[in-house]
Amino acid sequence: MTGDPSIDREAFKQFERDGFSRVAQGYDGAIAQVTSQVNEAILDAVETRAGTRLLDVACGTGWLSAAALKRQAIVIGLDYAENMVAIGRSRFPQVEFRVGDAENLPFEPNEFDAVVCNLGILHFPEPEKAIAQSLRVLKSGGHYAFTCWTPPARNPFMALILGAVQTYGIINVDLPPGPPLFRFGEPEECKNILTASGFVSVSLRELPITWTFSRPQDIVPTIIASSARLGPMLAMQTQEQRHDIENAIIEGAKKYAINGVIQIPASVVLAVGCKP
Ligand SMILES: C[S@@+](CC[C@H](N)C(=O)[O-])C[C@H]1O[C@@H](n2cnc3c(N)ncnc32)[C@H](O)[C@@H]1O
Repeated sequence: MTGDPSIDREAFKQFERDGFSRVAQGYDGAIAQVTSQVNEAILDAVETRAGTRLLDVACGTGWLSAAALKRQAIVIGLDYAENMVAIGRSRFPQVEFRVGDAENLPFEPNEFDAVVCNLGILHFPEPEKAIAQSLRVLKSGGHYAFTCWTPPARNPFMALILGAVQTYGIINVDLPPGPPLFRFGEPEECKNILTASGFVSVSLRELPITWTFSRPQDIVPTIIASSARLGPMLAMQTQEQRHDIENAIIEGAKKYAINGVIQIPASVVLAVGCKP
């Protein structure tokens, strides 16, 4: 995957960085609370406690870092998108944040007891490189954990959005291509990459996540305002395609109404390994 010639790695990396900087405010308002639902499970997986030196890679606006700090860990949050880090710094002033690249971590070897990455790995052009960097900065006996969305077959939210685009629009819009979105949503793939990277005691779990919206009509505008890739993908459809996609999503979401609130299930794979 690393050597995939169809991927311009720099173009993809800049697209992700610029995209997340553009939507940082929307992301913090709408998506961070969704991704945060697995924060405690991630921190448990890497045995976070008082004094744990923890690096949160692709920390976004810092909610996982802040949860680790609450456990009295010694935390650094790192993200490539300056606006994400800026919001993190103002929302969680007690957390130390750095702007930096997951594939080139600005730390010495063996600095951390734990490295975590919540839903970041699918945004890196060379995830193997990011995993190798995490291994490098971990101490021996330290733990690494990352999450990734499960594929649409096991993820009703992704099935609803991508299914509507596939049926009524164009899924391969002209955006810099990156590695397959759901590559690590397959447990076998997670296990293989962690083992091949040198981790031992690899374990995998699937964790539920719920996307909540007040009204089905809010779904598409929320995604456009808060997502670096799905947002542009929806925004780049023609007006007619966009209309049909939006209708399909609204209709499909109605079946997830519980007490007047839309609650769409989704899930992530949590992959954990230990540095020998
Ligand atoms: C889906 S968000 C996840 C944010 C946060 N971990 C959370 O759970 O809400 C993905 C994050 O990866 C960051 N990112 C993308 N490419 C990166 C890179 N090469 N190095 C570090 N961060 C990167 C983005 O800026 C964005 O904040």
